[in-house]
Amino acid sequence: MLASVVVATGALAGAPPRTAKTLETGKAVYEGGAGCVACHGQSGRGDGPVAFALNPKPRDLTREPFKAGDSVEQVFATLTTGLANTKMVGFPQIKEPDRWALAYYVVSMRQKK
Ligand code: HEC
Repeated sequence: MLASVVVATGALAGAPPRTAKTLETGKAVYEGGAGCVACHGQSGRGDGPVAFALNPKPRDLTREPFKAGDSVEQVFATLTTGLANTKMVGFPQIKEPDRWALAYYVVSMRQKK
């Protein structure tokens, strides 16, 4: 059992391909225990229930520019390490495949107007 866990970790070779399930998984992570919704809101507009208390405000993920870039690789990096000196902390505890799916989901929010 332990062995399969060890085998699953490896060097990062860029974004994994986006599959039919990717956005579904990403949405589940976004809306689940990771807590993104509390700050960024259900639809990503930066209007979650605790947003009012934050400075800087949580990003409107659908249309505001991203300081650290909005390619899927850059969003993955942001989700891993966070943004310095803000309430946007890193989420390295989210399993890597889930974190990639989340990055794809965040990028997909930007495409809908
Ligand atoms: C405690 C509140 C909080 C939580 C929880 C949170 N964020 Fe953020 N997030 C922020 C704030 C605040 C900013 C804007 C920081 C700034 O202006 O520099 C931000 C910025 C971002 C950005 C823009 C990064 C950039 O380069 O500008 C992305 C993408 C993002 N968050 C995604 C997420 C995702 C996905 C989750 C869930 C895993 C999440 N955030 C959880 C507060 C939060």
